[in-house]
Amino acid sequence: MGNIITVGSMNMDFVYYVRSHPLPGETVHSVRTETKSGGKGANQAVAAKLSGANVTMVGALGKDPYSEDVLAGLRGYGVDTSSIVLKKGTIGTAFITVDESGQNSIVLNGGANALLTVQDLECLPSLFEPSSVVLLQNEIPWDCTQYVIETAYRRGVSVCLNPAPALTIPPHLLPLIDIMVLNETEAAWVTGVKVEHDESAVRQAASSLIRSGVKEVILTLGAKGSFYMNEREEVIHTPAFKVNVEDTTAAGDTFIGSFLAARQKGLRTESCLRWASAASAIAVSRAGAQSSIPDAEEVAAFLK
Ligand code: ADP
Ligand code: NA
Repeated sequence: MGNIITVGSMNMDFVYYVRSHPLPGETVHSVRTETKSGGKGANQAVAAKLSGANVTMVGALGKDPYSEDVLAGLRGYGVDTSSIVLKKGTIGTAFITVDESGQNSIVLNGGANALLTVQDLECLPSLFEPSSVVLLQNEIPWDCTQYVIETAYRRGVSVCLNPAPALTIPPHLLPLIDIMVLNETEAAWVTGVKVEHDESAVRQAASSLIRSGVKEVILTLGAKGSFYMNEREEVIHTPAFKVNVEDTTAAGDTFIGSFLAARQKGLRTESCLRWASAASAIAVSRAGAQSSIPDAEEVAAFLK
């Protein structure tokens, strides 16, 4: 089984549970607060690891106590942390408010994530092992992400991109991407199609990416599940499981990491999507982000 090499962000998340999100100029009191490890890169790495993949985390931390906590946390999960670079500054941080309905709002500070360079990545010889897949988001400098996409393509290594936060992807890079996973906001931004409108808009968004050269596209649609399209424009709808929503933070991260782990195990696409749907349903039914990601045993039991 090939490795999953996640090149992305690691953060310390400061989570404030509130009755409702503060409006501009408003102050609200938190019901409770928590400090925990996050970042889309780290969350997806942990999700993939817990679903049974071999996972390497590549990215930058600082030289502060929170960075040490995050490093220890990833090691605790069994993620290979030997390629993590330590920068002079402090770890990236996220201030997250979660309201009573489980919806979140997030303010990010890049911190060490923003200091990762192409030179750092060039010094990591094991980054592009054959049969591995690189997993990217958009919380590190774009030149790093672009370097990884182009180099992976040249070395025959698969690339999975979750363009989050959303960005305009240079068209010449799209044919170099094997799997792109986007939520509704990201899909609307990247394709210009308002996907929340209806099924035909979802199909249109996915097919515009496929026709631009992306080999497989997955649109995650929150409680509406997910929409998959391959190069032949074959479609798979996967419903979301009905659960009581506690906290949707990292739903997408859990979906992506667990999907890719199932893929690396050689499961059929339908099964990978169902696995990811179950893993993310469990994650949204529990408080927390990274800490709410289930392991393979729990997902298997949920699917029985
Ligand atoms: P993101 O967290 O990136 O916004 P989504 O909200 O699309 O991503 O969620 C990703 C996946 O998580 C969905 O495709 C679905 O399978 C699952 N999911 C999200 N919200 C729910 C929910 N309320 N109930 C069950 N599953 C959910
Ligand atoms: Na959760």
